[in-house]
Amino acid sequence: MKKIIIPIVIVSSLIILVGCYSKNEQHKKGDIMMNTEIEKKIDSLLEKMTVEEKVGQMNQYNGFWDLTGPAPKEGSAETKYQHLKNGWIGSMLNVRGVKNVRAVQKIAVEETRLGIPLIIGFDVIHGYKTLSPIPLAEAASWDLEAIKKSASVAATEASSAGINWTFGPMVDISRDPRWGRVMEGAGEDPFLGSKVAVARVQGFQGTNLKSPHTIAACAKHFAAYGFSEAGKEYNTVDIGTSTLHNVVLPPFKAAVNAGVRTLMNSFNELNGVPVTGSSYLQRDILKNGWGFNGFIVSDWASINEMINWGHAKNKKEAAEIAVTAGSDMDMEGYVYVKELAQLVKDGKVDESLINDAARRILRVKFELGLFDDPYKYCNEENEKNSLYNPKHQEAVLDVAKKSIVLLKNENDLLPLKKSGQKIALIGSLANDKNSPLGSWRIASDDNTSISVLDGMQQYEDNTLNYSKGVDLITEKTSFTSEVKINYTDKSEFKHAVATAQKSDVVVMVLGEHGFQSGEGRSRSNIDLPGLQQELLEEIYKVNKNIVLVLNNGRPLAIEWASENIPSIVEAWQLGSQAGNAIAQVLYGDYNPSGKLPMTFPRNVGQIPIYYNYKNTGRPINKDNNVFWSHYIDVENTPLYPFGHGLSYTTFNYSNFRISKKSISINDSIKVSVNVTNTGKYDGKEVVQLYIRDMVGSNTRPVRELKGFELIELKIGETKTVEFTLDKNTLGFYNNDGEFITEPGDFKVFIGGSSTTTLEGQFELIP
Ligand code: BGC
Repeated sequence: MKKIIIPIVIVSSLIILVGCYSKNEQHKKGDIMMNTEIEKKIDSLLEKMTVEEKVGQMNQYNGFWDLTGPAPKEGSAETKYQHLKNGWIGSMLNVRGVKNVRAVQKIAVEETRLGIPLIIGFDVIHGYKTLSPIPLAEAASWDLEAIKKSASVAATEASSAGINWTFGPMVDISRDPRWGRVMEGAGEDPFLGSKVAVARVQGFQGTNLKSPHTIAACAKHFAAYGFSEAGKEYNTVDIGTSTLHNVVLPPFKAAVNAGVRTLMNSFNELNGVPVTGSSYLQRDILKNGWGFNGFIVSDWASINEMINWGHAKNKKEAAEIAVTAGSDMDMEGYVYVKELAQLVKDGKVDESLINDAARRILRVKFELGLFDDPYKYCNEENEKNSLYNPKHQEAVLDVAKKSIVLLKNENDLLPLKKSGQKIALIGSLANDKNSPLGSWRIASDDNTSISVLDGMQQYEDNTLNYSKGVDLITEKTSFTSEVKINYTDKSEFKHAVATAQKSDVVVMVLGEHGFQSGEGRSRSNIDLPGLQQELLEEIYKVNKNIVLVLNNGRPLAIEWASENIPSIVEAWQLGSQAGNAIAQVLYGDYNPSGKLPMTFPRNVGQIPIYYNYKNTGRPINKDNNVFWSHYIDVENTPLYPFGHGLSYTTFNYSNFRISKKSISINDSIKVSVNVTNTGKYDGKEVVQLYIRDMVGSNTRPVRELKGFELIELKIGETKTVEFTLDKNTLGFYNNDGEFITEPGDFKVFIGGSSTTTLEGQFELIP
């Protein structure tokens, strides 16, 4: 909990109200799951354990098949099997399915000296078998209940298959769409990102971790991985303390306050220190500052990678640095299991560090109820009934519809008429049941999505002619292989052009292959890959009534399309029910309500581009010369801003009110607005509130999202939406990581996107 106004400090003639974290209060939050019964059980278990067995708890091995990282030399099946029997493994990842989980659990529980159960981890990123939209898409729904539900469906399926711990949610904020992993997060904004993080943690963990249908969550990647230089995967991160505290850390803190039981660190370095070896992040901030009492798992061999980074000279040193810094579990690195016990014996590592790490891991195992029944997630019948359950399909269809963003809709081309139309459906992605499943779907089955063609065929009173136009890729691709794009074969262009020519409307489904985003998939060029842009322009020559449906895992630079194509629908990769969701939106059975969680640039040169930028000293061109902050070849504005998204209806904002002209620091202020549905359809709107702190000891962004509400309005209906602002929403972190609230003038903006012009102001007085 933030405490405001402790000392009053005078800095540079500004009065600043400093609020430090009160350690005790922090501890209460992090300790919500602390249970003295459990602690006593851990005490007596730890007493019985050898150093090797305690270190064993800190060791996590990959299963025997799926790889989600480079294969380590040490990892033969025999070694793993032997270590399992020795009680030297605390957790396994990528072991899935009741049969397999039961088999490894049986060895841990029945064949080791102390019979400590394993915790079974897996990347349940947007579903297990039944897939939800990719997380970036879900964030576009701004519908926290739907997001929570989607995580709970994922937990239900995964837990039925033996899994009790997901490596999600990924809560990395990123401003760089070149980075392939933006598909896994909630976009660029810390406020929205924090809300989504909480919804996902609650969805995965539920209210009772002991339930066999919930799983422990893992907020990752701690921290700042989303700021990899140039959007290049696994790269250096060099950011200031202001960005770290105000942009990167808030979603992690929100997840911790929501009771997330684990965190994962990361491959990147931060300001010269690999985060896996960062005491500042893991001990000072997370464990001591926020009172986090769960455990931290390394990312895949990220302890070893400190050697490549040039931070540790060998594995022994890497183990020492990581454990000292607070990394509790070594994922598939073989470093802790090989080095730690000896380091303790040599007096290089204090045994208390090992005790603390083992305690944290055992705590989560007790909380999950694994000691009561290690096979509680191993029920074949439950597994059979749960996977691909129709109720899960319903839930993911619901969130898929809500994730779609209508970027542009001129001449009311959408929604499509339901009868009497000749429609051309063009693009290989339109007939693809694999790509819409997106990246990070290791357990799912190929080709299990509903394609757009399948979805649209259900509207039978129109004539639908499909032509693929061009193959996006040249060969079958998978989670671990490179995506080979087709840059040469235009043989199908002719057929597509002819199909478009004889149609009233053309629906073109273009974008990225499902494995073109995700881990290891940074792009230096974020346009439509391959020959798709050329195909689009060829079709445009013969029929301008084009609805462009985008399938992609990141914002794309589609400036030509934005200028020329009348209707553009951002449909991301929407998971198992993609085609049904898209068809329902195209035909108006669902009125689109999504809003962008990430800015779309005009071109890659604008990146990083985000709505909460700083004003600079030269924000506008006053004297008609070149000496201001801009490019000479592209506007400063993005193609589509954060928070943007249209509906088939229109909304009018009126009667903007701020309850007071000024408030004192402990007071709150109410801001309200009336929103009226002025169009021809019932619809939903995400009403967004932004502030600007006009003067700060640390300069403040031109806008910061501080509230949003998703409302539903019938035709002609008006609703009043009210927000409350107080010292918690008006403050920020200074460069020492302290939360402060400074008196002064604030502007408030309300509207349907981050570029809204409806504004008011008030003053915060000391
Ligand atoms: C990723 C993590 C993931 C882990 C296990 C790593 O390569 O960075 O996000 O959880 O693999 O699959």
